[in-house]
Amino acid sequence: MATNDADLTGLIEARFGLAPDFAQDRTPTDTVTTMLRHRICRQFTTDAVDEATLEHLLAAALSTPAKSDLQQVAIIVVDDPQRRARIADLIPDMPWIRSCARFLLFCGDGRRIRRICELHGIEFGNDHLDAVLNAAVDAALHLSSFVWAAESMGLGTCPISVVRNHIDAVSEICELPDLVFPLSGLCIGHRGDTGHQVLRLPPALTVHRDRYDDSALAEQLQGYDRRRDAVFSIPPDRQQYRDRFGTAEFYGWSMDKARQVSVPERADLAAFLRRKGFRLE
Ligand SMILES: Cc1cc2nc3c(=O)[nH]c(=O)nc-3n(C[C@H](O)[C@H](O)[C@H](O)COP(=O)(O)O)c2cc1C
Repeated sequence: MATNDADLTGLIEARFGLAPDFAQDRTPTDTVTTMLRHRICRQFTTDAVDEATLEHLLAAALSTPAKSDLQQVAIIVVDDPQRRARIADLIPDMPWIRSCARFLLFCGDGRRIRRICELHGIEFGNDHLDAVLNAAVDAALHLSSFVWAAESMGLGTCPISVVRNHIDAVSEICELPDLVFPLSGLCIGHRGDTGHQVLRLPPALTVHRDRYDDSALAEQLQGYDRRRDAVFSIPPDRQQYRDRFGTAEFYGWSMDKARQVSVPERADLAAFLRRKGFRLE
């Protein structure tokens, strides 16, 4: 694998563990370079992220396109140490929620547009699943933009979807009203380690030309599992649910993910959203 990642070919090769199909003779933009170099951060220094930096990042993130220009995102900056500690206490196996410089909660906001309708005396006529999806997409895109903006400044980030495992408690801590739901937390701060780059699935599996075709899934996965394992091998004691599945001799990404999703997670989300006032029909 290329070690000089200053050139586009090297960056792409490092991302996928595969040489790109086409000669990459262009110079990547700074944005593309930031994205190709992305690695999650779970180890933060104690250095602060000051208010001016935060405002700068929020302005960048809020420049994200939004579905129908409805702008259905709410970002809670959780600065109150007690509220942050209560969230961190809910998720003790992710100590980076406590140690990061700032913690944000990205929410889908279906409330604002309904209030706007009320202010204009117009009935809201989109009370169905797509309304939730639109707000969730807006929140996700803003989260993503915030990540790229922060990483372009050399900061580290880690989204936290596990807040949804405690969706009632987190909503209560941040006083989310009806029709506002947490999509993901986001830890930001100065990197305490360099982390390691996680290889992505080969584009042959995720990019389809004209028609969907996953006929090469099994074959492509074998290579991907081996490439990932060569960079970062999951030790036997980190294999998931060994009590049910035993200890695999070779334990790659696909086995790990299949085991992970064998257990239901957040099956109560629809009930939560209904309690919060959404119809999901
Ligand atoms: C929406 C979203 C939610 C995530 N939730 C968590 C989380 O709750 N805890 C955590 O430690 N990492 C979380 N992550 C980080 C992913 O685990 C990480 O992005 C993935 O393992 C790939 O690693 P990479 O980002 O370094 O390429 C989340 C990432 C995304 C995009």
